[in-house]
Amino acid sequence: MSSVKVECVVKTRSDIGESPVWEERDDTLLYVDIYGPSISRWNSLTKETETMSTETYVGCVVPRRSGGYMIGEGTRFAAVDWDKRSITTVTHVDTDKGNNRFNDGKVDPAGRFFAGTMSMEVWPAELERGQGSLYALQPDHSVIKHFGQVDLSNGLDWSPDHLVFYYIDSLKYMVEAFDYDVQTGGTSNRRLVYKLGDDEGIPDGMCVDIDGKLWVACYSAGRVIRIDPQTGTRLQTVRLPVLNTTSCCFGGKDYSDLYVTSATRGMNEEALANQPEAGGIFKITGLGVKGSPPHSFAG
Ligand code: BGC
Ligand code: CA
Repeated sequence: MSSVKVECVVKTRSDIGESPVWEERDDTLLYVDIYGPSISRWNSLTKETETMSTETYVGCVVPRRSGGYMIGEGTRFAAVDWDKRSITTVTHVDTDKGNNRFNDGKVDPAGRFFAGTMSMEVWPAELERGQGSLYALQPDHSVIKHFGQVDLSNGLDWSPDHLVFYYIDSLKYMVEAFDYDVQTGGTSNRRLVYKLGDDEGIPDGMCVDIDGKLWVACYSAGRVIRIDPQTGTRLQTVRLPVLNTTSCCFGGKDYSDLYVTSATRGMNEEALANQPEAGGIFKITGLGVKGSPPHSFAG
């Protein structure tokens, strides 16, 4: 039985590191710094990081089948040509909500780019509630709105059999599930999966492992937790040496390492001194579970 090890592998001071995605082809971890605002690629072999600025706050980045990436930036879905370091608008959402921005997003098993919005924060996790929505950019570049009334749209992923969509609206302090129709991209039958305990902070980014269990990064609580969605119970807690753990994804050889991003936003000098690795990216090894490769946007 191997033992769990946590190591800070990307020593950076991201404001809000988020949206980690493993790129198998290059042994690279892709991520954003929302308020950088920037997109970065960390090469796990050379340990070098390449970064490009975006025009405004970038909530998420995902791979694209035809090359490059897609982002949810400000209130637009946009395409990124990494080689040219250029960004092209695909379409806008929340056009009636000038104070909104995209937050977390991920591609579904059929290649649709799901991403949610939120009102701008006055302080981490303090914002006008109910202003966000969950959208899906279809491969033909049309947009479907799944639902509104979201406080702070965050982690999302699908069960290994594609029949369930898991979702986190952070300020509800719970993980929810929907029945998922991968043919139509439809979500229905919303229900509670897990309610976070008082010591578990704010649920943020999330990913599913190949056993169908959920890994949730707990913002302000310095941990990731593993949830069994069938029983609604917590199976495991892995603590990290920084409090603002924001998101996680599996990567590395065979997708057996869990990468965890973190944030420094809102931390005072004392907190930054006490958490010298805050804002960095961590690799957790020895978990004995694996994830699966990320999906790429089909449009
Ligand atoms: C958001 C942050 C927020 C944090 C805590 C992140 O997903 O991007 O702005 O402060 O979640 O809930
Ligand atoms: Ca997030």
